[in-house]
Amino acid sequence: MTARRKKPEELRSHRWYGVDDMRSFGHRSRTAQMGFHRADYAGKPVIAILNTWSDINPCHTHFRQRAEEVKRGIWQAGGFPVEMPALSLSEPFQKPTTMLYRNLLAMEAEELLRSYPADGCVLMGGCDKTTPGLVMGALAMNLPAIFMPAGPMLRGDFRGQPLGSGSDTWKYWAELRAGNITAEDWKEVEAGIARSPGHCMTMGTASTMTSAAEAMGLTLPGAASIPAADSRHAQMASLTGRRIVDMVWEDLKIRDVVDARAIDNAVTTVLALGGSTNAIVHLIAVARRAGVALDLARFDALARKTPVLADVRPSGRFLMEDFFYAGGLRGLLSRIADLLDGSARTVNGRTLAENLAGARVWNDEVIRPRERPLVAGDGLAVLTGNLAPRGAVIKPPAMEARLHKHEGPAVVFSSYDDMAARIDDPALPVTADSVIVLQGAGPQGAPGMPEWGQLPIPKKLLREGVRDMVRISDARMSGTSYGACVLHVAPESHVGGPLALVRDGDRIALDVPGRRLELRVGEEELAARRAAWRPPAPRYERGFGALYLEHVRQADEGCDFDFLEEGKPTPDPEIH
Ligand code: FES
Repeated sequence: MTARRKKPEELRSHRWYGVDDMRSFGHRSRTAQMGFHRADYAGKPVIAILNTWSDINPCHTHFRQRAEEVKRGIWQAGGFPVEMPALSLSEPFQKPTTMLYRNLLAMEAEELLRSYPADGCVLMGGCDKTTPGLVMGALAMNLPAIFMPAGPMLRGDFRGQPLGSGSDTWKYWAELRAGNITAEDWKEVEAGIARSPGHCMTMGTASTMTSAAEAMGLTLPGAASIPAADSRHAQMASLTGRRIVDMVWEDLKIRDVVDARAIDNAVTTVLALGGSTNAIVHLIAVARRAGVALDLARFDALARKTPVLADVRPSGRFLMEDFFYAGGLRGLLSRIADLLDGSARTVNGRTLAENLAGARVWNDEVIRPRERPLVAGDGLAVLTGNLAPRGAVIKPPAMEARLHKHEGPAVVFSSYDDMAARIDDPALPVTADSVIVLQGAGPQGAPGMPEWGQLPIPKKLLREGVRDMVRISDARMSGTSYGACVLHVAPESHVGGPLALVRDGDRIALDVPGRRLELRVGEEELAARRAAWRPPAPRYERGFGALYLEHVRQADEGCDFDFLEEGKPTPDPEIH
């Protein structure tokens, strides 16, 4: 394929810099003010580096330095780098949840690219929502774009044992609550669990989404698996900077890369990784921004034929550092090449199949061979039934197999606060057979669909040795979590979905092999409850929260804003 080469006067930035009028005089004089000579930028592609670094994002600590390495590559290739801070979305700190702000980052990314003289962009993200937020924004703007993943942090350490982000927090928290470890032990876990820059190093949402971005063709080959602290990560940043300049000259735009093939490849990859359930919501949103239809049924169909090969926590044993040494994502993709569409284009101008040539796996324990998968299929299951008419999801490999088919009485909590207040009450009528239900935790209810879906097991059951039970909510769950947690119930309870009608003692039946979730209450009784149901008052009446509540879509549609998906494309700004 011979790449078309743009002429300098065809660059988008030419309208800012290249013409000879009073406005461009202003742009040039102000660029001079920043210390740049005309020779630094004249006739060169302006590359916006959207950097989600901040002082409160531990997963992106190294992005300040990595941006410099990206710039080095851009300069070397004859581009003009312009770093722009974008909303940092720090998963551990932002309340009530970063999910409330994913679409805000997407809006910001789109508008930064539109309103400034960007010819192409490098998207620097990794911590959970930063990846989909940046990609969604870039898709809306449709310039040449390349993704630079933050990379996972190194393995955690507790007395010589590896610790995994999130997963081991839940595990040791349960042990602390059960009285099996001391407060001193707990402090040691705290000190050792996050010991380098980088995003969570389990197969949480961050590792899942950066891998999905690579499988979608949005990174250079191999980029998503390199640990943040590895010198190869810095090299990858520089190579990424070099490549985006050529992408601009070739006019290789993000929507030339992200098509139906790329989306299916991303879904299959997520499944083979045993990835986070959050990827479902994000990939649906990404696909819809790219004009590709993707629904829950497609996830279920692909899950049935895709084996889980990554033996990485929380579904498996190892961590992302091990995954990288074992061959990384390229190694894994080489083992499922027959399930991927190798003809999909990628940012380096080659096809996915071409990029996988020579990829190898060096450790069959971490990246399993096809004949010995971690899970043969059903890494994910989409459930429907009268409790979730538009669907709900569950991750069968991350739950105790005895619960795949289960029926029990509901113990209902109307909100997170209600649950926090009563879950450990010794008088709570709950047994290991109960089904714990949390209402009011969906996109509008919480709001923001927080990661509350791994509902806590009551202390008294923990003491009896119970470590898993069926739990149902309209929330999401951290990708590092595990358990028999039915998530993303749609429509959510806040808008009157059937989850709002469940009462204590109602029988609920979960059937993972049959893909069913049923509330065993007669239609007449449900109709009476529906008639008596009143919508809760909106949580926010002003500001971004009110905008969010008015426009967010349900989980099965990706939780994007209706006005960001619909309408005519926004024109480029007039340069006056
Ligand atoms: Fe940033 Fe987990 S907290 S990826």
